[in-house]
Amino acid sequence: MADKVGNIRAKNYYTDVPFAQNQFYVKGMDHVDWGMKNRLAQIFNPKSKNTVMLAFDHGYIMGSTFGLERLDLAIPPLVEDIDVLMATRGGLRAAIPPHYNKGIALRCSAGSCVLNDDMSHEVIGVDIEDAIRMNASCMAVQVFVGADGQTSSIDNLVKTIDAGNRYGIPTLGVIAVGKQMERTTKYFLLATRMVAEFGAQIIKTYYCKDFEKITAACPVPIVLAGGKKLPEDEALTMCYKAISEGARGVDMGRNIFQAEDQKAMTKAVAHIVHNGYTDTQAYEFYCDMKGKC
Ligand code: 5RP
Repeated sequence: MADKVGNIRAKNYYTDVPFAQNQFYVKGMDHVDWGMKNRLAQIFNPKSKNTVMLAFDHGYIMGSTFGLERLDLAIPPLVEDIDVLMATRGGLRAAIPPHYNKGIALRCSAGSCVLNDDMSHEVIGVDIEDAIRMNASCMAVQVFVGADGQTSSIDNLVKTIDAGNRYGIPTLGVIAVGKQMERTTKYFLLATRMVAEFGAQIIKTYYCKDFEKITAACPVPIVLAGGKKLPEDEALTMCYKAISEGARGVDMGRNIFQAEDQKAMTKAVAHIVHNGYTDTQAYEFYCDMKGKC
């Protein structure tokens, strides 16, 4: 207990100075609780207000894929240049050292497309207690608007949002694009707005034409989904365009861990997201750094 002996009587009350009116810097999050804001601040850098998420939860969808054959070797060298790891609980527990102290986007939906290539019938794969145990900064749930399993995926999302709201853990709504689903601006405008209105605090979606309309119309931050592997210059251009058009970050997997130099690519992406690099500057940086990281 603080020792009362020697306490100095309070005297400066700054009665002419209004109390701190901290406008919280994450879009649409002014009215959430302190704990949720603190977790959002683990995700979105307070200076740039953006985030670089490295996704390596692919194993639950496609098994081992090029670049992720060994999670324990592929991911740890890249964490110094990212803000958040997006992963399954199994991947994190098995392959990431517990002294890792940055953000965790815990993949909480679970399913399989083995039977009929339809991933839309997922379940909630992690209960809230394990998300808390894993120190999740947010919980990620895939939503399949327009697919056969859309209703069950929305049910997974809203149940996760409700549980997260009880404990101050934000939910990341991942806009899925199954094989039979469209990838148009009209679809993404609808799906992102729907998932935000259901209560997700962060939305992850793909780049498309008129992307600035999607980020403007969404009341919470949009994070760009990387998608399939592109040539490094094209991936950096996509990243630059998305940030320029209002995305508050990127969540990339294959375009980082399948790059020719994964570390140089991570750094190049971070320069666009946090340091205002153009795609040209970032690609020049990537080419200079290739093989030297
Ligand atoms: C699938 C996903 C996966 O979680 C993963 O993040 C995909 O990463 P990338 O497409 O950048 O390889 O979001 O919907």
